Amino acid sequence: MNRLDGKTALITGAARGIGRAFAAAYLREGARVIIADIDEKRAADTALQLDKDNALAVKLDVTDPRSIVDAIDIAQSYGFGPIDILINNAALFTAAPVVDITQEDYHRVFDVNVKGTLFTLQAVAGHMIDHGVRGKIINMASQAGRRGEALVAVYCASKAAVISLTQSAGLNLIQHGINVNAIAPGVVDGEHWDGVDAFFAKFEGKQPGQKKREVSAAVPFGRMGTADDLTGMAIFLASSEADYIVAQTYNVDGGNWMS
Ligand SMILES: NC(=O)c1ccc[n+]([C@@H]2O[C@H](COP(=O)([O-])OP(=O)(O)OC[C@H]3O[C@@H](n4cnc5c(N)ncnc54)[C@H](O)[C@@H]3O)[C@@H](O)[C@H]2O)c1
Repeated sequence: MNRLDGKTALITGAARGIGRAFAAAYLREGARVIIADIDEKRAADTALQLDKDNALAVKLDVTDPRSIVDAIDIAQSYGFGPIDILINNAALFTAAPVVDITQEDYHRVFDVNVKGTLFTLQAVAGHMIDHGVRGKIINMASQAGRRGEALVAVYCASKAAVISLTQSAGLNLIQHGINVNAIAPGVVDGEHWDGVDAFFAKFEGKQPGQKKREVSAAVPFGRMGTADDLTGMAIFLASSEADYIVAQTYNVDGGNWMS
C-alpha cells in the first residue's frame, strides 16, 4: 500500500468503469486523484463516493484542447497538482460492417480515442516538463489494437493508433524523465461491454448477453475481466518500480493475446 503517496493523478473518463476502478485503486495507494470526465454529474458523484477530500471531479472533454488546459488549471487551483500521473482512459466504442461505416462515426471515435489521447498527453506532458515532474503517462489501448475484427474496424484502428502513439511519445518524452506506456485489456465486463454486446446483438442477430457469454468462454483464464483485474498494472506503471519501462503496451487480458 501507499506506493503512490504524495502523487497527483489525472484520469480521463474516470466517472465510471475502468477509470473509476483506477481512481479508487490510486486513492488506496495514497495518491490524490482528478476524476476528469465529460459526464460532469457522474464524475462529481464518483469523487464524492470514493473520497471527498482526495478526489476532485473536473469536467473535461478530451476532444477540446481548451477543455484539457482548463481542467489542468482548475485542478491546480484546488491544490491538485502538479500532476505526476496521467491515465488517458476516456474512449468510445463503435461497430459496423465496413460498408456501413459513416464518416460521422469515424470522426466521433477517432476524436476521442486518438486525438483526445494525443492532445491530453501533450498538455499534461508539457505541464510535467514545466514543473520539473518526472511523470508517468499510461494510455488505455486494447486487444482490439493488436488485430482487426470484422465488425470493429474503426475502434480497432483507433486502438492500434494508441499503441503507436505510446511508442512515439514514449521515445520522445523519456529524455524528460516521463515514462509513457500503455495497457491493453481484453474483454472487461461493465457498462462499456453492455454497449458492445448490444452492437453484436444488432449485427450478428444474437440474444442480449449472448456475445458476453461467448467472449467469456473464449478467455483462456475462463472469464471476462473486471476493472479491478487491471488496477495492479496501472499502479505498477505509475510507480517508481516502472522507471526503466519505456514505450511498452502490456496485455492484461486473461491470456487472450500474446505479444
Ligand atoms: N471494457 C472493455 O472491455 C475494454 C477493453 C479494452 C480496452 N478498454 C479501454 O479501457 C478504457 C476504459 O473503458 P471502460 O470500459 O471503462 O469504458 P466506459 O465506456 O465504461 O467509460 C468511458 C468513460 O469515458 C468518458 N468519456 C467519453 N467521452 C469522453 C470525452 N470526450 N472526454 C472525457 N471523457 C469522456 C465517459 O463519460 C465514461 O465515463 C477505454 O479506453 C476503453 O477503450 C476497455
